[in-house]
Amino acid sequence: MLNTKTIEIVKSTVPVLEKHGETITTRFYQLMFSNHPELLNIFNHANQKQGRQQKALAGTVYAAAMYIDNLGAILPVVKQIAQKHRSLGILPEHYPIVGKHLLLAIKEVLGDAATDEVINAWAEAYNVIADVFISVEAELYDETEHQQGGWNGFRNFIVARKVVESDVITSFYLKPEDNKGIADFIPGQYISIKLEIAGETFTHIRQYSLSDAPGKDYYRISVKRETGTDNPDGMVSNFLHNGVNVGDILKVSAPAGDFVLDMNKKTPVVLLSGGVGLTPMMSMLKTTVEAQPKRKVTFIHAAANGNVHALRDEVEEVSKLENVHAYFFYDSPTEEDRKNNRFDVEGYVTRDWLHEKIDTKEADFYFCGPVPFMKAINRSLKEIGITEDRIHFEFFGPMGNLEE
Ligand SMILES: Cc1cc2nc3c(=O)[nH]c(=O)nc-3n(C[C@H](O)[C@H](O)[C@H](O)COP(=O)(O)OP(=O)(O)OC[C@H]3O[C@@H](n4cnc5c(N)ncnc54)[C@H](O)[C@@H]3O)c2cc1C
Ligand code: HEM
Repeated sequence: MLNTKTIEIVKSTVPVLEKHGETITTRFYQLMFSNHPELLNIFNHANQKQGRQQKALAGTVYAAAMYIDNLGAILPVVKQIAQKHRSLGILPEHYPIVGKHLLLAIKEVLGDAATDEVINAWAEAYNVIADVFISVEAELYDETEHQQGGWNGFRNFIVARKVVESDVITSFYLKPEDNKGIADFIPGQYISIKLEIAGETFTHIRQYSLSDAPGKDYYRISVKRETGTDNPDGMVSNFLHNGVNVGDILKVSAPAGDFVLDMNKKTPVVLLSGGVGLTPMMSMLKTTVEAQPKRKVTFIHAAANGNVHALRDEVEEVSKLENVHAYFFYDSPTEEDRKNNRFDVEGYVTRDWLHEKIDTKEADFYFCGPVPFMKAINRSLKEIGITEDRIHFEFFGPMGNLEE
């Protein structure tokens, strides 16, 4: 354990580091990637360019430092990150590399303020934090490998079906090449896919939520083609859409993630999604219908219009059931959408609509979608009095802050 002096130094320097937070982590990544370019096979380059990963890592290191004498308090966050790390294949030997370059960056950015005493205290603190991550991840690796149908690292899956679901979303049905069993998953979880793309120096890993119920002999993912307007087109999603076909092999890591439907509860569940954020909700919806047929479930989906609205038929099929209600919101419906009554509400999901239409008393709320959508939903739910323990969400990127 750390001595009192070390703890004091670390805690008292957190505000200074916070002030330089992103400068330090940006420099940290530059230094680390120049000394260890092989790590560019693991990290998401677009997240780096947009600064999203910098924010996530900086925030966590400082939060951990503030709780350095009570790391139990941040264990839930560690567990969530550890799921992502496990799915990416982060190993104990990676931690000293991160530690070394983080300290180098702190030293460089703080200059004279980074005395030996300060640097040594942070080195000790980093080791304690890293040990917590390493031990949580060791447990996850063990569980993943030893569960039925489980495996560690990336396993070859064949694309068994490729189905166009809308103008922008396509599903891929993946079966293991070795024809053996596959690990079960909890609705809401995701897999990571590692791609080698011709002409690219590094491999590219991305996460995709499983969009069907568990218990099948395949995993289904549904991928939105990300088109850049001012920026380059999304690397992996476009490659999947344009370059991956039935019979091709994809490298897949076992299901991960702690954004999961609580199936021990019988109380109503409300699933809210914007755009491709519907994928984990589809799995939750279909699983509830199969495994908890009496549970009340409301599925609320927001899309621009019918052209980009995916998996609508599957939702309509289950919403024939008495306890399932589905509402579709289109913010820019087409003439065709109007003519065929393809949506319930024109516009965005608002607090007043939720308050009026949804029986919120005991319900749990799960949501996912573009960050502005998630911020609006989060705010609305809070304003109508939903407590935090009944609010659950997933970011389709490094975790951020919905309250900002
Ligand atoms: C837990 C989780 C679950 C997910 N589930 C799904 C899912 O079910 N379905 C789904 O479609 N996606 C899902 N995602 C998102 C997915 O992992 C990818 O992030 C997404 O497919 C985009 O990847 P890409 O390689 O196509 O784009 P990237 O190449 O990673 O680019 C991402 C964005 O950054 C922009 N960009 C690229 N380069 C630059 C640059 N130099 N400067 C500025 N901007 C740039 C691109 O235009 C694009 O908008 C999930 C993510 C997470 C974390
Ligand atoms: C104590 C040390 C570490 C902390 C506090 C930390 C923190 C984080 C956080 C907060 C995220 C974002 C998670 C999410 O939003 O889902 C993340 C993701 C990630 N981490 Fe770590 N991490 C640590 C160590 C490492 C190590 C040692 C490696 C490997 C060299 C690593 C590689 C990654 C990668 C590749 C991602 C995903 C990045 C992306 O999508 O761009 N991390 N980490």
